[in-house]
Amino acid sequence: MQKGQLVYEGKAKRLYETDQPDVLWVEYKDSATAFNAAKKATIVGKGRYNNEISSLIFRMLHNRDVTNHFIQQLSETEQLVQRTTIVPIEVVVRNVIAGSLAKRLGKDEGIYLPKPIVEYYYKDDALGDPLINEDHIDYLQIASQQQLMDIKNQALKVNDILSDIFTSCNVRLVDFKLEFGIDRAGNVLLADEVSPDTCRLWDIETNKKLDKDVFRRDIGSLTEAYDIILQRLKGEQNV
Ligand code: C5P
Repeated sequence: MQKGQLVYEGKAKRLYETDQPDVLWVEYKDSATAFNAAKKATIVGKGRYNNEISSLIFRMLHNRDVTNHFIQQLSETEQLVQRTTIVPIEVVVRNVIAGSLAKRLGKDEGIYLPKPIVEYYYKDDALGDPLINEDHIDYLQIASQQQLMDIKNQALKVNDILSDIFTSCNVRLVDFKLEFGIDRAGNVLLADEVSPDTCRLWDIETNKKLDKDVFRRDIGSLTEAYDIILQRLKGEQNV
């Protein structure tokens, strides 16, 4: 497989063409950003952790019948993925109140939700990724009703699977963000990444934060936290 032209550079990853039209080459960067890139830093090793963890999680999901764009890990910081057209919706699933939901509802972080809450945010940096609902999505024509139903069902299935996997790692899956793409056949496919950059992960016993909040809130070493997640997931690989 040949690495071709750079097609897209985001905050945390670069995407390159390959010699196969439906395959992209992803390179995870060592950059950390938060608050719509108002806070930025280079953290050596972060790219490797996110690539390793995301590859592991995508493989675990694949083994549990959640098809996704991941094809193969190439190196510590690179992976191959299937090309899709990304749906401009960030899908957030929440099991415990934290982050923006705590602020929006005026509730304390750490309250368990009786059932998961699914939220949609319009992926638009200039607008600051606003919270939207199904009617907004319909109006904006960014996903059909069928695609949105598919997206929601897949997001809830991913939540069930990952909640179980993380519980066996002694980690609470508080919330997470997913992105989906549409493949050439028109199917909705889980895409982007699933890593401590995109999930809130708390140690079950101590509630210690093992995710990007460590960087957002300046509360410790990000690579130490991500290393704990990687080591615990590696111990659960065959579950
Ligand atoms: O900030 P908020 O509480 O809305 O974030 C919910 C979840 O979505 C968190 O796990 C956060 O890491 C993730 N997220 C993300 N990318 C964004 C916004 C949120 O991965 N642009």
